[in-house]
Amino acid sequence: PFEAAIFDLDGVIVDTAKFHYQAWKRLAGELGFDFSESTNEQLKGVSRMESLELLLRSGGITDLTAERKEELASRKNEWYKELLDTLTPGDVLPGVSGFLGLLRSRGVRTAIASASKNAPLILEKVNIRPLFDAVADGNTIGRAKPDPEVFLQAGRLLGVAPAACFVFEDAAAGVEGAIRAGMRVVGIGDGALLARAHLTIASFEQLEPVFLLSHIGLNGD
Ligand code: G6P
Ligand code: MG
Repeated sequence: PFEAAIFDLDGVIVDTAKFHYQAWKRLAGELGFDFSESTNEQLKGVSRMESLELLLRSGGITDLTAERKEELASRKNEWYKELLDTLTPGDVLPGVSGFLGLLRSRGVRTAIASASKNAPLILEKVNIRPLFDAVADGNTIGRAKPDPEVFLQAGRLLGVAPAACFVFEDAAAGVEGAIRAGMRVVGIGDGALLARAHLTIASFEQLEPVFLLSHIGLNGD
C-alpha cells in the first residue's frame, strides 16, 4: 500500500535537534534570558528566522531591526555549524540505516523533508545521502512546517502521490504539515507531544516486523 517513506532530518535521522537547542540557548544567554527545553519544543521543524522570532518573543524582546535579526540568526548558525562539525557516520540514530535498507530492498522510495538549509551538509557528514532517492530541504522550499510544502515537494520528487507516502517526524509542526499534505505520519519520540500523529514510536529500534507488515505492508524478516 505504501510506496514512499519520507523522513524529517533533525531529530529523526540524526540527533541534531540537541545542537539547535544548544546554539539557541547560547544566543538567549547572550541576550540576557534563559531558554527552556519546553520553549525549544516549539522551534522544532520551524525555519531559522521563524525560530528566532519565537525565541525573541519568549525572552520578551520585541524591538529589533531586520538587520539585527539577520545578524543574530547567522551567529546562531555559526555556533550550530561548529557543533555539526563533530558529526560522524556513527551519529545516525539507532535503527535508522537498517530500516532504510529494508525499505529500499522492498522497492519503497525514500526522501528527506527538512526545513534546514544545512541538510545537505548534515547528510554528507553522516554519509547517509545514498540511502535517499530525493531531498527536499530549506534551500528548495519557501514555507516551513507546519505548511505542507516540503512534504508535497518530497512526494513530487519521488513521483508518489501523498496518499501513498508515510512520513516520520519528531516535531509537532512536522506532524501537522504531513497531515495537511494528506500523508500518514509516524511520530518519533514523546507521544504526548505528537498526539496528532497516526502512530508514535520511541525510536526506530522499536520498529517490529508486525508494525512493518500491518502499517506499511512490508514483511520485516
Ligand atoms: C529543522 C529543525 C529546526 C531548524 C530548521 C532550520 O526543521 O527542526 O529546529 O530551525 O530545520 O534549520 P537551519 O539549519 O536552516 O537553521
Ligand atoms: Mg525534526
